[in-house]
Amino acid sequence: MELKWDFIVFIYKALMHLLALLSISAVAQVSGSSFLNCSTPNIVWPGDDVILPCRLQPPLSAESMRVEWTRPDLEPEFIHVHQDGRFLHELQNPDYKNRTSLFVDQLPNGDVSLKLFKVTQSDAGTYRCSLPSVQQEASVQLSVGSEVIGSDQAVQAVVGGDVILPCHMEPPFDVTTLTVEWKYVRAVVHKYKSQKETDSQNDQFKNRTSLFHNEMHKGNISLKLTNVNLTDAGNYTCSVPKLQSQVKKDNVELIVDSKDKKGRDADDSETTALTAGLTIPAVVILIAGVVAGLVWWRRQRNHGRSQAEAPENVAMM
Ligand SMILES: *[C@@H]1O[C@H](CO)[C@@H](O)[C@H](O)[C@H]1NC(C)=O
Ligand SMILES: *[C@@H]1O[C@H](CO)[C@@H](O)[C@H](O)[C@H]1NC(C)=O
Ligand SMILES: *[C@@H]1O[C@H](CO)[C@@H](O)[C@H](O)[C@H]1NC(C)=O
Ligand SMILES: *[C@@H]1O[C@H](CO)[C@@H](O)[C@H](O)[C@H]1NC(C)=O
Ligand SMILES: *[C@@H]1O[C@H](CO)[C@@H](O)[C@H](O)[C@H]1NC(C)=O
Ligand SMILES: *[C@@H]1O[C@H](CO)[C@@H](O)[C@H](O)[C@H]1NC(C)=O
Repeated sequence: MELKWDFIVFIYKALMHLLALLSISAVAQVSGSSFLNCSTPNIVWPGDDVILPCRLQPPLSAESMRVEWTRPDLEPEFIHVHQDGRFLHELQNPDYKNRTSLFVDQLPNGDVSLKLFKVTQSDAGTYRCSLPSVQQEASVQLSVGSEVIGSDQAVQAVVGGDVILPCHMEPPFDVTTLTVEWKYVRAVVHKYKSQKETDSQNDQFKNRTSLFHNEMHKGNISLKLTNVNLTDAGNYTCSVPKLQSQVKKDNVELIVDSKDKKGRDADDSETTALTAGLTIPAVVILIAGVVAGLVWWRRQRNHGRSQAEAPENVAMM
């Protein structure tokens, strides 16, 4: 008797489990026949346009769906909302005004990609695309790059002196957790990798280079090179390889004065001597001029006296 009852309970539980399983897969069948497949675009540079790609797979027309692109970290969060065949501009975050569009003619193919025009640094972040009618949602990460800017003008140094080779990120970009590399032709001048220097440095530059660690969060990756040698002259490149999906590195040319510091000082005294050489004739001319002026003034004064019209200040002299 008891055994029979247990068997009935077992059958009942098994049936309920089966039913639950069936209903779950039925729900999955409804919302999951097509899923939203989004992909991460390559890093973009300020001023460029970018497409945040998202499509329903297998293709399912999104023409009559509400398509929502949002950035949950913003207020208002709506970047682009499309419903009943039109763009609901009144919902849009004003920072995105006139800068977004959907590929409306591709909606029947399930393509709900968003195009964003003239990207700025503040566009970087997580974008969410959702299609409430089919309960589909996916996120896309947008990374906005920063350019590495070296120097158009060559930097000058003297043998034995120190020099700063300028390089920075534009717009400013925190590089403290990235890799920063300075190269001279192919030789590694200095390499920094997430918070510390690496020892993969060419011997020519050993113990002579440093970065300004407290400036790097502002994107300043200038290099200090000490005890400059003649053989250091040439072209240096600074780069942040992580950001190089579109090779962004830049040059700084270093010119080293062939005279060392002493030579330069000697140069300075030569210059002084030369200046003195020019000064002596100048003084002679000046004195001659003053004498001539005095003679002329005396004559004028005598002439004035004869007319009894000497002005007070002249008389005092
Ligand atoms: C999503 O789309 C990409 C191409 O856009 C494709 O390579 C990838 O296989 C798709 N993912 C799935 C799970 O179908
Ligand atoms: C957006 O574009 C319209 C016309 O296309 C123009 O009148 C309007 O000033 C633009 N708004 C902004 C913020 O650029
Ligand atoms: C660099 O400095 C370290 C210690 O400060 C020293 O042991 C090493 O020999 C130096 N290397 C060169 C190439 O000068
Ligand atoms: C980077 O830092 C160095 C050292 O403080 C400074 O001389 C240079 O002007 C800075 N460059 C920029 C672009 O801020
Ligand atoms: C400078 O370079 C020359 C080779 O051009 C080398 O002989 C000399 O040791 C170098 N001086 C320093 C201080 O590194
Ligand atoms: C450095 O590069 C500039 C142009 O970028 C070039 O004119 C110059 O000759 C180069 N200097 C050396 C030493 O290679």
